[in-house]
Amino acid sequence: MDMIKEMFLLIWKVLPAYIANATPLIMVRSGHPIDLNKKFIDGRPLLGPGKTIEGFFVGFISGILTGLLQNPGNLMRAFTLSLGAMLGDLLGSFIKRRLNIGRGRPAPFLDQATFIIVALLLSSKFESYTIWEMFTIILITIPIHLITNMVAYMVGIKKVPW
Ligand code: CTP
Ligand code: MG
Repeated sequence: MDMIKEMFLLIWKVLPAYIANATPLIMVRSGHPIDLNKKFIDGRPLLGPGKTIEGFFVGFISGILTGLLQNPGNLMRAFTLSLGAMLGDLLGSFIKRRLNIGRGRPAPFLDQATFIIVALLLSSKFESYTIWEMFTIILITIPIHLITNMVAYMVGIKKVPW
């Protein structure tokens, strides 16, 4: 029971990052690609069409609102968790494209973890985590991300189950 309570406490600490990561998927059908369809020096897309300006802002704003609802006095926590999640998600796509993994194709670990790793690093001055807590958050985020994406697929929000 204590472990479950501990887990919810950790999820609560990074909730703005989770919300920022999830809302583009739910709210953005299509949009303008952040990379403006530009290619990197390897000739492959910089980020690919799955990362849109609309998605970035929907995620960023909803993450900030979540953080401010949780703790109105800590704007920097809300800001860094939310921005970190969005930047980490872009980093994941950037790495996927360098590895020649197409948009929407699965990339274990990158798909689930880059958003939370960057969110943790950026927010570490404004939310208190021990190294152990950071490690645990990354670890539990992987199955949570996999399960929520599977549910999103089953209810028809997502085209693929990852
Ligand atoms: N999305 C968006 N803008 C973002 C992030 C996500 O519009 N900055 C939307 C896109 O519709 C995207 C969906 O959310 O297809 C799911 O996000 P994700 O799984 O991260 O993107 P993928 O399409 O799988 O692309 P990639 O292979 O680059 O991860
Ligand atoms: Mg994906």
